[in-house]
Formats: sequence, structure tokens, C-alpha cells
Amino acid sequence: MKRIYLDYAATGPTKPEVLKAMEPFFLQKFGNPSSLHSFGQETRAALDKARGQVAKFLNCKSGEILFTSGGTESDNLAILGVVFEYYHQAKNKPHIITSSVEHHAVLHTCQYLEKKSEAEVTYIKTDNRGLINPEDIKKAMKPNTLLVSIMYANNEIGTVEPIREIGKYIEKVNKDRDNKVYFHTDAVQAIEYLNCDVKYLHVDLLSLSAHKFGGPKGVGALFVKEGTAIKRLIHGGDQEYHRRAGTENVPGIVGLAKAIELVVRDKSKNEKIRKLRDKLIQGIGKKIPDVILTGDPKNRLLNNASFCFNFIEGESILINLDLQGVAVSTGSACSSGSLDPSHVLIACGFDHQTAQGSLRFTLGEQTTKEDIDYVLSILPDIVKKLRKMSPFGRKNVGV
Ligand SMILES: Cc1ncc(COP(=O)(O)O)c(C=O)c1O
Repeated sequence: MKRIYLDYAATGPTKPEVLKAMEPFFLQKFGNPSSLHSFGQETRAALDKARGQVAKFLNCKSGEILFTSGGTESDNLAILGVVFEYYHQAKNKPHIITSSVEHHAVLHTCQYLEKKSEAEVTYIKTDNRGLINPEDIKKAMKPNTLLVSIMYANNEIGTVEPIREIGKYIEKVNKDRDNKVYFHTDAVQAIEYLNCDVKYLHVDLLSLSAHKFGGPKGVGALFVKEGTAIKRLIHGGDQEYHRRAGTENVPGIVGLAKAIELVVRDKSKNEKIRKLRDKLIQGIGKKIPDVILTGDPKNRLLNNASFCFNFIEGESILINLDLQGVAVSTGSACSSGSLDPSHVLIACGFDHQTAQGSLRFTLGEQTTKEDIDYVLSILPDIVKKLRKMSPFGRKNVGV
């Protein structure tokens, strides 16, 4: 059976060119970058080069890039790092503004701080497309606001948030304040498809993760603007400018930088992905009744097609598609396996039953027209069959 992968937002394959770039750093060039001998110098040079490549992509200085173990650690380091640094200096409890549609790496970190009484948090609501209104950030601002953390693109519904507009507003606010408001964006889903120039975005901190754009798993980076103090979370050696201890994952970091190089080189593939995504959205809309496209129809990642199928569970569709060789997701990889409906869809105002019908298709470089045709040929029957079996389906669609 042919296997079709449509879950690129969860992860994707490491690109062969990336793997090739990494290989020497497992075999011949294995030195510890902190060692003074030639083996160490070799990997130190590779590390410096990779840092420079990531910095060039984000339009910042090399010294503003910290390598981490991935998106989750970058988000934790951004939020906890800023709050803990501030906490020991300030009298007031810091205030964080974030949104209710963030990835759990941000949401759970904020909730942890709330629980520990180390911060108060405002969770901005979105509209039913998952879009944040920058006016709501203005309204939420307080004298003790220390950090705003808003994701660039949503991993479940693909909605792209107005990061530049928010960044410019925060920069303006900071001109009249003694205590700076820092702005962090989780750009984990954005790297391959959106402009991630940190000066264009006006952000102080930005998280990314290699496995979301053709790099290896377990490696990421955090941009920390010069002058932004963060407390280290991992103690030990002096690596990463004293901000993140531990021997660097040199092969992973080299792979991350190579994957970034390919993102820039292969930009032209994105139009093909967008067209296939549009074909999928239109095909589903035409062939299947009672389906809602979730997320913003226009401001969305070009590879994302996410839906709620009324009267049935997304999980059942997922299993049936998988039996026929097609891999999709019901939402984020992290919440799969949980019976709770997606917090993103609930935040968008969907009721629990509708949210249970969620299904996410995320396309990638290897997706073909034949893949999409195949999905469109099997999905209507799967949905029809499941609706026939469901008491809700029978009543509401009359099948
Ligand atoms: C928006 C977003 N943030 C953070 C993460 C976590 O990244 P990682 O898997 O590298 O820890 C993910 C992964 O799904 C994500 O989609």
C-alpha cells in the first residue's frame, strides 16, 4: 500500500542534504567544541558557521542566537528566562500577556508561573478564526507587564498572527516606559513559509525548531536580542554565552543551519504546495457536506488545511485514513491521544462536539497531486460511513 504523509506540522523527514552535512560530525569531526586541540577547533568553527547562518536568516548578530534542544526548550527559555531574570530585581509580580491559542510549550509554561505565583498572566482571546486583535494587547497592557508572547503561526489551524503590528506597537509603548516590555514569538511553524526577519517583526525573542523545516529532531534555537537579559535554566558549563550549559549538539546544529539554507534556496516550491493545499480545501468543500474550514481562510500557513467534520470524531476519520495509507492529525501532535477537544478550537468558540470533529492536513515538499487526488477519492466515503454509524450523523445529515 502506498503511504501518504500529510502531517508536516507535526514533523517531517530530515532532508538528505541535511543528513549529508551532519554525517562528518558524527564520524570524523567529533571533537568537543570546548576542547582546545584541533578536533575541538574544527567543531567550534562549524558551530560558529552555523550560528552565523541562522543569524543571517533572522537578520541578527551571531551572538544573539542560542542553540537549544528544540521549540519547547526555546519557548521555556524565553518565558522563564525573562521572568526569572526580572523577578529577582523587581518589586512587583511580573505580568505576561499571551493568547489562548498558543502551543502548550508556551501555555503550560505560563500556567506554571501562575501556579507558582511568580507571574500573573492575561490570555488574550481570539476571533473564531484564531486571529488576535492587536487592540486587545493594548487593552491588556499593565504597568507591570514584562513580556508579551504571541505565536507567529498556529500549529493546528494555521492562522498567521499580526506579529509585526504587535511588535511595532510594543516598541512604541516602550518609548514611554521605564520598565521595558519584551516581545517573544513562537515561530516554530513559520520558518519555512513566512518572513522571519527579527527586525521586520520587531521582536526581542524568537523560537524555532529544526525538525519542522527539514532538519533533525531535538535541536532548535532562540533569538535573544542584544540587551535582553535572561536567566539560564540549565546550569553547568559556560556554553552558549553562559546562557545554556551542556556540550553542544554539533551534528544537530550543523543540520539545523543546512535546513535553513535549503528553506531559502527552495522557496519556489511553496507555490506548488499552496496550490495543492487549495485543491484539497476546495475538493473537500465540494465533495463533503457539513464541513467547516478552521482557521483564517486568507491569513493562514500555505501548507495548512484544517477542518471540523460535523457529527463525527476526527479521531475516527484519522484511523480510517491511516488504514488506507494516509497520515493526518486531529490537531497538534502533543495533544493527540488525549480525548479533550483542542484548546485552540475551543478558544475559537467551537462547542466541544464540533471541536471533536477536527482534522488537520499539513502538506510538504514531497506532497504530490496524486496524493491529494487519492485523499479526495477516499475521504467522502469514509465520512459518509462514519456518519451513518453515528447517531448524530443519521439525525442531522439524514444519511
Ligand atoms: C507552534 C509550536 N511551538 C512549539 C513546538 C514544540 O517544538 P519541539 O517539538 O521542537 O519541542 C511545536 C511543535 O509541534 C509547535 O508547533
